[in-house]
Amino acid sequence: MRRVFVAGGAGFIGSNFIRHLLRERPDVEVVNFDALTYAGNLDNLRDVAGDARYRFARGSVADRAAVLGAMRGCDAAINFAAESHVDRSIEDAADFIDTNVRGAHNVLAVARDLGVGRVLHVSTDEVYGPATREQPRREGDAFRPRSPYAASKAAGDLMCAAFSETYGTPVIVARPANNVGPYQHPEKAVPLFVTNALDGEPLPVYGEGLQERDRLHVEDCVRALLLLLERGEPGEAYNIQADNHQPNIDVARAILDLLDKPYGLIRFVDDRAGHDPCYWMDATKVRALGWAPSYDFARAIEATVRWYADNRWWWERIKAGEYRAYYERQYGARLAGGRRYED
Ligand code: TYD
Repeated sequence: MRRVFVAGGAGFIGSNFIRHLLRERPDVEVVNFDALTYAGNLDNLRDVAGDARYRFARGSVADRAAVLGAMRGCDAAINFAAESHVDRSIEDAADFIDTNVRGAHNVLAVARDLGVGRVLHVSTDEVYGPATREQPRREGDAFRPRSPYAASKAAGDLMCAAFSETYGTPVIVARPANNVGPYQHPEKAVPLFVTNALDGEPLPVYGEGLQERDRLHVEDCVRALLLLLERGEPGEAYNIQADNHQPNIDVARAILDLLDKPYGLIRFVDDRAGHDPCYWMDATKVRALGWAPSYDFARAIEATVRWYADNRWWWERIKAGEYRAYYERQYGARLAGGRRYED
């Protein structure tokens, strides 16, 4: 690899990936192609913006001509560009179709037309729908997406499979679990809980807080993604999971413990519609390539809490903007009717 096209590189996982790639591969150049929607933020890459091997090009994956312009000259491509928040997809999924379906197709079509040697498409465990530890999902299993977000991501994955079969496009699909770590937008549960706790604001826990998610540290995730970009088998998909599953209520309590704040900040609020109880994948395939997570749950959450505590400059700006209207829509009435935590 000499030059890597990264779509969605100003987002959470994308920006962590770019930092990792520039550090680990001193000869590689990066083109960061990002639309800078509410979720994309060049602050995420402030420390590498001056690197001679890094270039930013603003554009949307939904705009095929813009993708073509930015991908030309690259010999590898990775697509992080996505609308990723389930609650926003429940409000309206039109943007999810544009970015996650049309955008995925554009990246594939341009990569095919330019003869790009390797393409990695970043997907999610949510395409499989709910699963348990006893019956983990494997890469060939059926898709049973239940949110508009998950359905749009499943469509992108299917397009990758179709391009592999039809055109021989060398595309690999990665399906990571829930990530935690630096630069995650505070609409997501963990940074939302941490930043609210730091401000002494209530933590809105959906339902009874019994739903479980893996908490894969983003540094572990980006190591797996670089491995797959370089050594994954074209045409194959790979699950990425750390087995760090915890119910949301335990995550909220762990965060409050780390910040020395009272559990009284927890509010149980009306549940998300169609809330998936748990995802669980078998990650044998990526582990067979030599990957293993280095963060267990305790280390992942501790490092994450510390980062948000130390980087108010990063999230205070986000929480002051469009976020306020979103927060009021999502949480205003629910928090007013929320139930307090009892020991
Ligand atoms: P989220 O971070 O939105 O990721 P996803 O829905 O893609 O897994 O949510 C993680 C879990 O936390 C999920 O079970 C929903 C729950 N949750 C809350 O309890 N409160 C919140 O305010 C949010 C955003 C999520």
